[in-house]
Amino acid sequence: MSHTFDISVDALTAPVSAPSVANGWPIRASDCAEAGLQMPLGSGRTFYIETFGCQMNAHDSEKVAGVLMARGYRPAKSMAGADLVLYNTCSIREKAAQKVFSRLGEWRGVKDKTIGVLGCVAQQEGEEIFERAPWVSLVCGSASYRKLPDLLAELESGGRRVMGLGLDTEETFETEMTRRDNPIRAYLTIIEGCNYACSYCVVPRTRGPERSRASEAILAEANRLAEAGYTEIQLLGQTVNSYRDPSPRGWNFSRLLRGVAAIPGIHRVRFATSHPNDFGRDIVAAIEDTPAICNHVHLPAQSGSDRILRAMHRTYTRAEYLGKILWIRAASRPISVTTDIIVGFPGETEKDFQDTLSLLDAVGYDGVFSFLYSPRPRTSAAEMDGAVPEQEKARRLALLQERQRQIQLARNAALAGTVVEVLADAYQAPRAQWAGRTSSNRVVNFVSSHANLLGEYLQVRVMRAGPNSLVGEHAV
Ligand code: 5AD
Ligand code: SF4
Repeated sequence: MSHTFDISVDALTAPVSAPSVANGWPIRASDCAEAGLQMPLGSGRTFYIETFGCQMNAHDSEKVAGVLMARGYRPAKSMAGADLVLYNTCSIREKAAQKVFSRLGEWRGVKDKTIGVLGCVAQQEGEEIFERAPWVSLVCGSASYRKLPDLLAELESGGRRVMGLGLDTEETFETEMTRRDNPIRAYLTIIEGCNYACSYCVVPRTRGPERSRASEAILAEANRLAEAGYTEIQLLGQTVNSYRDPSPRGWNFSRLLRGVAAIPGIHRVRFATSHPNDFGRDIVAAIEDTPAICNHVHLPAQSGSDRILRAMHRTYTRAEYLGKILWIRAASRPISVTTDIIVGFPGETEKDFQDTLSLLDAVGYDGVFSFLYSPRPRTSAAEMDGAVPEQEKARRLALLQERQRQIQLARNAALAGTVVEVLADAYQAPRAQWAGRTSSNRVVNFVSSHANLLGEYLQVRVMRAGPNSLVGEHAV
C-alpha cells in the first residue's frame, strides 16, 4: 500500500500533453456512440473529483472520471464550477478521515450541486455520512464502483440518496475508459482488495477481499497505454505481488511483470505495494533479467520487533524479512528498497522501538514512510491494551526519521559522480530546473540546456546528494 498525498485534481482538467486519450479512447460523443456507449443524461453537466490517499485512490479517481466522461459529463476547472463534486476519501489514519468531514462541511447548505463521497470513508461510514452531512447524495465504496453508472443514472432521474456499499464482489472494476491525469506514468490496477488481516488496518474492510484481474485484460490495457505513448507503467495493488491470474494460463506476479515489460514501447515497469510474505526470489530474478523492470522494491516492514510483528498479524518474522532483503542485495543489479514503518503500536516498548531502529540500519533503506499508529474503528488493534502516549509516539517518530535521514544521505552520497538514467517528469520554472526519477525511484533535479524534455529518458550526472533527492547536470 502506499502513501498519502493529495493529487491536484486540476490535473484532471489540465491539458494532458502526451496522450490526451484514455486507454487509447478519445473522449468525444461520436466515439462513444461508435463504441456503443451512451451519452445520456449526464450530458453537459460538469464534475470535479478531489482525491485523498494512496495511489490506488488516485487511479480509482481516474477510472471514475472515465466513467463520468463516458456518460457525457465534462471535467470542471474548479470545484466551485462543478455540478457534481466527488470526494474520493481515505480512512487509513484518523486524521485523513477527519479531513474528509471538514471538507464536506464546506458544502453545507449548497443547493445547486450534487455531492458524493467515494472510497474508504464511504465504505466505512456508509449511511452515517448522510446523517452527518445530509447535503451528500451519493455514497459509494471502491468495491462497488462497477455499480457507479447505475447509481449515477438513479441520481440523474431524480434519486435523492443513492448508495453502493457491497463488499461481496468477486469482480474487479474495469472501465471502458480511464481518464489518466499523469502524462508520464500510467497506473494500472492488477489486483484489488486485500486478504491479509493486519490488526491495525482498515483496508480489508474498506476495499474488500482480494480480486486479481485476468492477465489478458492487463496486457491488453498495457498495450493500449504503450500505443497511446506511455513508456512507464506502475502496476498497482494493496498487495500487488499476491497477484494470481484467474485465467487458465494462471500467471503469477513475476510472470506478469515480465509480460508487461516485454511490450514494445514500455521502458519502465514499477509495482507497489509488495507484501513481504508473498515476496519470492522469482521477483528478484525478473528484475535481474529485465532492465525494463525498475530496480526498486517497496517492502513494508511496519516494525523491526518480532513481538510487535506478531501483534500486528504481519505473518513474517524479522529474520524472514531480512532473509528476503538478502536475496535483493545479492542481485546482479542494485535494487533500491523502501518501506513503511508504524511507530507507537499498542504495547511497543523502548526495546521494540530500538529493534525497529536497528532494522533501518540492517536493511539500509533508500526511503521510509513512517507513521504514528492511529487506532481505527473495527480493527482488533484498537481494542489492545498498552496505548503509547502521543508525546512518546512523536518522540519515537522524530528519532526514527532522523536515523533514516542519515542513512539516506549516505546512500545518496555514494551516487555522486555517477551518471544515472532519468525520466524527466516536471519543469520548475522559477528555478529553471527539470525534475525526474531514476529507475530506482530517486528524485533527481537537474539543469539542461535543452527545452522540452518532458517524458524523455536522459543521462544525468549526479553532482550533489541530499537525503531526499539528487542534484545533477544533463550530461550531453
Ligand atoms: N495507523 C498508522 N499507520 C497505518 N498504516 C496502515 N494503517 C495504519 C494505522 N492504523 C500505514 C502502514 C501502511 C501504510 C500505507 O499506512 O504502514 O503500510
Ligand atoms: Fe492493510 Fe495489511 Fe492488507 Fe496492507 S497487507 S492493506 S497493511 S491489511
